[in-house]
Amino acid sequence: MTIGIIGLGYVGLPLAVEFAEAGHQVIGVDTNAGRVEALRRGESHIEDIPSERLQGIMDRFEATTMSRRLVLADAILICVPTPLTRNREPDLGPLLSAATAVSGVLQRGQLVVLESTTYPGTTRERLLPILEETGLSAGRDFHLAFSPERVDPGRTDHTLRTTPKVVGGLTQACLERALEVYGLVCDELVPVSTPEVAEMAKLLENIFRAVNIALVNEMAMVADRMRIDIREVVDAAATKPFGFMRFDPGPGMGGHCLPVDPFYLSWKAREHEVTTEFIELAGKVNQQTPHFCVEKVERALNDLSKPVRGSRILLLGMSYKPGVGDIRESPALKILAGLRELGADVRYHDPYVPELPGFGLSSTGLDNAVAEADLVVIVTAHPGIDHIGIADTVPTVDLRGVTRAGRRAEMAGAMNGNGKV
Ligand SMILES: NC(=O)c1ccc[n+]([C@@H]2O[C@H](COP(=O)([O-])OP(=O)(O)OC[C@H]3O[C@@H](n4cnc5c(N)ncnc54)[C@H](O)[C@@H]3O)[C@@H](O)[C@H]2O)c1
Repeated sequence: MTIGIIGLGYVGLPLAVEFAEAGHQVIGVDTNAGRVEALRRGESHIEDIPSERLQGIMDRFEATTMSRRLVLADAILICVPTPLTRNREPDLGPLLSAATAVSGVLQRGQLVVLESTTYPGTTRERLLPILEETGLSAGRDFHLAFSPERVDPGRTDHTLRTTPKVVGGLTQACLERALEVYGLVCDELVPVSTPEVAEMAKLLENIFRAVNIALVNEMAMVADRMRIDIREVVDAAATKPFGFMRFDPGPGMGGHCLPVDPFYLSWKAREHEVTTEFIELAGKVNQQTPHFCVEKVERALNDLSKPVRGSRILLLGMSYKPGVGDIRESPALKILAGLRELGADVRYHDPYVPELPGFGLSSTGLDNAVAEADLVVIVTAHPGIDHIGIADTVPTVDLRGVTRAGRRAEMAGAMNGNGKV
């Protein structure tokens, strides 16, 4: 088969590689010419896809900026971003422009699948009309489906192949064709009755996480005020073998999925005169969390009899999760901005984020920066960094609990004011 993929980012590139490794031809289209050039040289920009893996499929993978190449594809999978506008409303710009590109090449017999996360109704209300402007009809001349991407960057225990794939077709024939195509690279398929069910299932998954992260972070704020160790509370609660799912407190929510996707549903719900209280509340708590972390830093410095102004603070890990370099919506950026506003001299170390041009900073060498810091803040605990060793030498605020394991006695000491919280 020839598979066309529009958008070669965190979602599209792994999908392209998976199809190519299964022996299929892949045409990957992206509007970012620099990205396409790099891919043509065999250089991957996604941590989960090492360049060597990309180089192994170069004879089956064509990266291009020219969407007309998709005329050759049996199936076209759309994996473009679905961000929010400044007013926090769905920005379907990239999606609609990809849809227009597809309608320019659409052929009888082709399958078109939307993978981007979006509100229920997008495939039918927004994508379908653009594709049918060609005069071709979905279900008869071409096939149309929605199948949400479930990739979790940095995760290795569940892969694209082993993660069940939810698929909703516009018609039964659309569904069957989409199942046939995804069956080439996924072990388990989950057919659902409509694209809307598939669209909403993805949002439910993400909203579930957003709400539970907010819940545990709110509990962390309460526990902090009550001088109870929230991580010990979570460890204890997680021993319940049923009816509880573990979520760990942290510096807040990041990435371009969880802080964004729930608001796609809120927006659509308003059209139906329904409010989404849980989503709004979770959004509010999650936005507050980095400010709470700034407060924790202030208190840790206070315990050291130091003001924030002029203190040298080293932030460890600026991306939103370990092992990846994605800084979109990362709470670390808010913490950095908050500490700078208070006059701190902030530096950072992150092997995955060499530069933060927006702040005029680049990642510093670890050893010197630790030696010179008044306080270290572990924001995202990347693998390969000796966080425990660092916390042993410099006062440390550990927002991820990575220095805690096996060190409860030290943590008890921390509450007595040696700067570790
Ligand atoms: N990153 C994740 O963990 C993840 C997980 C599940 C679902 N999703 C969803 O998948 C979608 C894509 O996310 P991503 O993380 O891969 O984004 P990304 O920003 O990493 O990649 C998107 C790519 O699309 C390209 N692009 C933008 N507009 C285009 C257009 N009109 N035509 C061709 N290419 C275009 C961009 O240049 C970029 O390379 C989003 O809807 C996201 O919510 C992401």
